[in-house]
Amino acid sequence: MRLIDQTQLPLTEQYIECDDYQRVAEAIRRLEVRGAPAIGAAAAYGLVLGARSVVMAGQKLDQRLPEIAAELKATRPTAVNLDWAIRRMMKVFETNRHNRTDAELSAILEAEAVSIAMEDSTVNNKMAEWGAVLFDKPTSVLTHCNAGALATVATGTALGVICQAWREGHIKEVFVDETRPLLQGSRLTAFELSRQGISVILITDNMAAWVMKTGRVQAVIVGADRITLNGDVANKIGTYGLAILSRTHNIPFYVAAPISTFDFSLIKGEDIPIEERPQDEVFNFAGVRTAPLGIQAFNPAFDVTPAEYVTAIVTEVGVLWAPFPDKIKLLAKYQI
Ligand code: MRU
Repeated sequence: MRLIDQTQLPLTEQYIECDDYQRVAEAIRRLEVRGAPAIGAAAAYGLVLGARSVVMAGQKLDQRLPEIAAELKATRPTAVNLDWAIRRMMKVFETNRHNRTDAELSAILEAEAVSIAMEDSTVNNKMAEWGAVLFDKPTSVLTHCNAGALATVATGTALGVICQAWREGHIKEVFVDETRPLLQGSRLTAFELSRQGISVILITDNMAAWVMKTGRVQAVIVGADRITLNGDVANKIGTYGLAILSRTHNIPFYVAAPISTFDFSLIKGEDIPIEERPQDEVFNFAGVRTAPLGIQAFNPAFDVTPAEYVTAIVTEVGVLWAPFPDKIKLLAKYQI
């Protein structure tokens, strides 16, 4: 599997060749590949690489595959797409394992990984079409982190919507939060949008309140890493603050997420595991230490926005408007 190394963007376009599942797991942990749908697809391909190596070593898939799946799943805890993709792959394995050889099973798993990736592409396009309808006149929109092509298999979730609305003439400019500590906004979102010729205005995260207060944005749209049955949304740290600010300034706060990002087993956001990352990411800026020695840092990678702050959720089957619980329950029947 070939991945663009997202930690090097936008200055260097460097690719990583993953020959074994361990390298895929490492890529996910290091954020070389990141974004909920992208890590789901990457993990599915990781499982295929794992299955192949087991078959080639003459070992039994029955024994090793569940261990490899558990290892891949443990790489990042918050984005449920990772868990969803692994579960989907293991279900295919379980269904076929009694009447297929290990070599056949390995091919079946590969076909499933390809389906996961291809479906994400279709899902991105559908979300973009549904979401673009939310913008019916030239709008300045704000986004956080990166929910674009780099975070998915095709065009993105929130960014896919923005790009479609732009093509329809309904986006004036996009305010992009820098997204500390790892700068997914400035490094990745600004990169993606500018390559498409879309007007980008980069801001540091602490400028959002003032940008809203001074009337510079009319909508916020972000992606999601996990959405619970009540409509609570886990997304990149800082999203919750933006949602509160949007409410205060009477600005709609939209979330774009595929059905694979919904966790139908969790009732509320408090149940979502939040990844804590190394303190060094906060001590440093672009790899250079900017904080004094001898202190501590807190580095949660995600926060949870309560459903009450979310205006609508764009999915591939349509736009869900608040209140969400009954609508989300209905969505469950669409999840593969
Ligand atoms: O830590 P990251 O960069 O993987 O966090 C990504 C996000 O929070 C995205 O907004 C989310 O995964 C949605 S991606 C379509």
